[in-house]
Amino acid sequence: MKRPPGPSSPALWQTAQWMRHPIEFLTDCAARYGDLFRFQMAGFGTVVVIANPDLIREVFLGSPDVFLGGQSNNMLRPFVGDHSLLVLDGDPHARQRKLLAPAFHGERMLAYGQAMLDLAQAAIDRFALSRPFALHPEMQAITLRVILRTIFGIGDGTATSGQTVAEEQAQSEHLFRLLQTGVELASNPLLIFPILQHELFGLSPWGRFKRLARELDDLLRAEIDRRRQRNEYQGRSDILSMMMQATDEQGHAMSFAELRDELVTMLVAGHETTANALGWTVALLLQHPALYDELAQDIESARDAQGALDPEKLAKLPLLDATIRESLRLRPIAPLVARLLAKPLQLAGYDIPAGWVVAPAISLVHQRAATYRDPLRFDPHRFLREKLPNNEWLPFGGGNRRCIGAAFATYEMKMVLSALLSRTRMRLAPGYTPRTIRRGVVLTASEGVPVIVEERRAAVRLDHSEGIRKRVIATGPC
Ligand code: HEM
Repeated sequence: MKRPPGPSSPALWQTAQWMRHPIEFLTDCAARYGDLFRFQMAGFGTVVVIANPDLIREVFLGSPDVFLGGQSNNMLRPFVGDHSLLVLDGDPHARQRKLLAPAFHGERMLAYGQAMLDLAQAAIDRFALSRPFALHPEMQAITLRVILRTIFGIGDGTATSGQTVAEEQAQSEHLFRLLQTGVELASNPLLIFPILQHELFGLSPWGRFKRLARELDDLLRAEIDRRRQRNEYQGRSDILSMMMQATDEQGHAMSFAELRDELVTMLVAGHETTANALGWTVALLLQHPALYDELAQDIESARDAQGALDPEKLAKLPLLDATIRESLRLRPIAPLVARLLAKPLQLAGYDIPAGWVVAPAISLVHQRAATYRDPLRFDPHRFLREKLPNNEWLPFGGGNRRCIGAAFATYEMKMVLSALLSRTRMRLAPGYTPRTIRRGVVLTASEGVPVIVEERRAAVRLDHSEGIRKRVIATGPC
């Protein structure tokens, strides 16, 4: 039996290094042991890290009955529920993915572009001027509102579901605060350890989280019931309504528990990840002012006849796309993805037993000098200059579990960055240099990316209310 090499230090020490400095830990181990090595994660077992793109391909294309992505996410089960795409494997995973996929198809994103732009514009209107503030919480608020509007279908001001506009706005604000607090509580990395999941009469962090989860449950049940009773979901374009319409091969629609678990999954998987990616992209752009200006100019070219930013044109800007690719390459949000082995595996001459986790290492693949010349440099143009291999750009994972929200996240990043670059002139707060730190299970830029907005320009927006396309100037120059 030949096992992959790896550090021999105590498991607790390896876990601590992985938790505190994941990128450095992986880079250090790869330098010492090569493209395939193992480490111990206390409480979770042995993880075999893979940095070779050909071996990663074998894992991604391997049988879903052997490479269990859901089982390896088991620690998320208390947060996302038993029906969540994140924790399912085998046929139930394939069924659920089939039901959800149409709602996340690239072409669908056009329907959400204007809402994404509008929500970013409204957030920019509230930015403080001439004094430092952390950009990350603002990005979180935008991505949360985008999820509420486009996925939950709440707060679009159409006052459907038998509510008045004021009632709908109040419901949307209430849900926004509830989800914001829930996500904040759940981002405590210690809560993934089952031993700390005790309610203690609602007094512990876990207890407070569970109380919020129950309130969310009631609100979602009421919303779904209301849409079902009024048969209203048929004509709506939000993702919840599409999920309510979807049926499997036997003609079965999703149950309430399935709908609820998938909504929470989209929130958990799609909110913090996109906010972190946005924070990092802005930080990198602000460190490269010439590129910032070049991109801002490109964005100006994507306006419609009335002078408003045009989501469709923005989505097609090559440099904007390349900037997002390069940011996700250099600063991936997840350093690795995991598959628990249901059967023993032979890989690159090593014997890996069932029960171990194999983990394609996104951060290591993204730094391969053979593919990415000068890999530590932020250089979006590299994606325009040359055709880079798809299997060495993996910020969204791969195979049958590749991020279902990849098109959604990319589209949203394009809209939010365009709003930011077209309307503000900002710089990083003096003395700040971004570093990668862990936040829960994802990586993010340190200190929440403190910035100073020096100038905020007027927004030209189109008012779509009552079906009229009307040009409005949102804010005067400051
Ligand atoms: C920049 C933002 C994002 C990044 C970097 C990201 C990254 C990832 C990664 C690495 C995975 C694991 C893939 C694998 O195991 O091979 C994943 C899975 C997933 N993501 Fe994303 N994600 C982002 C945004 C989103 C958004 C916006 C949504 C939904 C609205 C979303 C929903 C999901 C779901 C449901 C899964 C589980 C898929 C499955 O197991 O079948 N993600 N994401």
